[in-house]
Amino acid sequence: MAETTKTATLTFEGKTIELPVHSPSVGPDVIDIRKLYAQGDIFTYDPGFTSTAACDSTITYIDGDKGELLHRGYPIEQLAEKSHFLEVCYLLLYGELPTAAQMEDFETRVTRHTMVHEQMHNFFRGFRRDAHPMATMVGVVGAMSAFYHDSTDITDPWQREVAAIRMIAKVPTIAAMAYKYSIGQPFVYPRNDLDYASNFLRMCFAVPAEEYQVDPILSRAMDRIMMLHADHEQNASTSTVRLAGSSGANPFACIAAGIACLWGPAHGGANQACLEMLREIGTVDRIPEFIARAKDKDDPFRLMGFGHRVYKNFDPRAKVMKQSADEVLGLLGIENNPTLQVAKELERIALEDEYFVSKKLYPNVDFYSGIILDAMGFPTSMFTPIFALSRTVGWISQWKEMIGDPALKIGRPRQLYIGQTRREYVDVEGR
Ligand code: CMC
Repeated sequence: MAETTKTATLTFEGKTIELPVHSPSVGPDVIDIRKLYAQGDIFTYDPGFTSTAACDSTITYIDGDKGELLHRGYPIEQLAEKSHFLEVCYLLLYGELPTAAQMEDFETRVTRHTMVHEQMHNFFRGFRRDAHPMATMVGVVGAMSAFYHDSTDITDPWQREVAAIRMIAKVPTIAAMAYKYSIGQPFVYPRNDLDYASNFLRMCFAVPAEEYQVDPILSRAMDRIMMLHADHEQNASTSTVRLAGSSGANPFACIAAGIACLWGPAHGGANQACLEMLREIGTVDRIPEFIARAKDKDDPFRLMGFGHRVYKNFDPRAKVMKQSADEVLGLLGIENNPTLQVAKELERIALEDEYFVSKKLYPNVDFYSGIILDAMGFPTSMFTPIFALSRTVGWISQWKEMIGDPALKIGRPRQLYIGQTRREYVDVEGR
């Protein structure tokens, strides 16, 4: 619970308004402006929410200056080293690390829900054969609300719980099916004797015609990618899920909205855009040309995989991801691939370049994740779906937190209107 022992005073056009200030458990104080309009007949203006806290939350904390990311208080570096994805899911959903018995029970519950309703296969067949897997995912995850009616009553805590488990279990299956559909291969059903990451790899890479053995190196790397993407407080897609959910929309519709938002290249779509950029650069000697374009104010080009709204020192997820990339590529014996050479040199130059240093533009998580996923054999179109299936637990945890809060209000921002003032309609002859 936030403490409220301070106030801020706003003076405007002769009026003085006292505003309560809440102190969080860690991080900067927050001025509570909820009564500002009622008391002062004035709004605040913050497009892009650069200075606005839209909710209170106990799930994830980021200190952008320190480059710190905590889930329920635990640093991401420790989780990435010692934990595994499903344990992080439990932590995000329920607030504490599970005991061995709790973990076993949670794993069983998730595992029992990995298949999707057989009739849902028909939805996939309605998409063009080469549809982007993200487009298919937005549609099919939204369509879950047409199948799982017994978990769409958001006023029932048990139904909310079942919806959460269903989504964590089924979104990887849907992502893998979207991939298989896009390459014209048969769907591969989940195997519940495999761990979460191995099962996903198998659903993507196995074919009925031959045996498939999951490589433990790839499975561990996949699990780590999932952990590093699991939650990231009030980012654009999570805020989308919360805003959609604030109207009382069902959880499947809300997560579909989050997937749609994540797809953009400024957010989760950056991993695909980054690898495509590295391939377009192609050779180390072309890097200066692209750096010059990124600095040019008249060129919309940006170095994908660089910069972050919150991290202004380094992205701790990127640090772990870089280590993981080195390990995986080393173990697979492909350290010398040309894309990786370009990535390494680009990173080196950008970290020394005055423009990037002064604007605090560091490689973010998406810079390295694409390199690992590429090495694992995923096409670029699957990078963002993998981000989406990993982030599902974050979205659903944040949604559950919001819906469980008795103070929930529909999200409804105001605006700074700069259009025409009232004027009279003119008949077509007079225009
Ligand atoms: N390349 C070149 N210049 C950049 C870049 C970049 N990648 N990112 C920011 N800048 C410049 C920008 O032009 C601006 O310059 P000026 O102050 O002279 O106008 C300044 O840095 C601040 O940029 P901004 O757009 O105001 O910053 P923001 O906080 O609104 O945007 C961002 C953050 C992540 C959208 C942006 O850095 C970006 O577009 N990066 C590339 C896309 C990317 O990698 N996104 C993944 C983010 S991490 C994963 C996730 O959370 O989804």
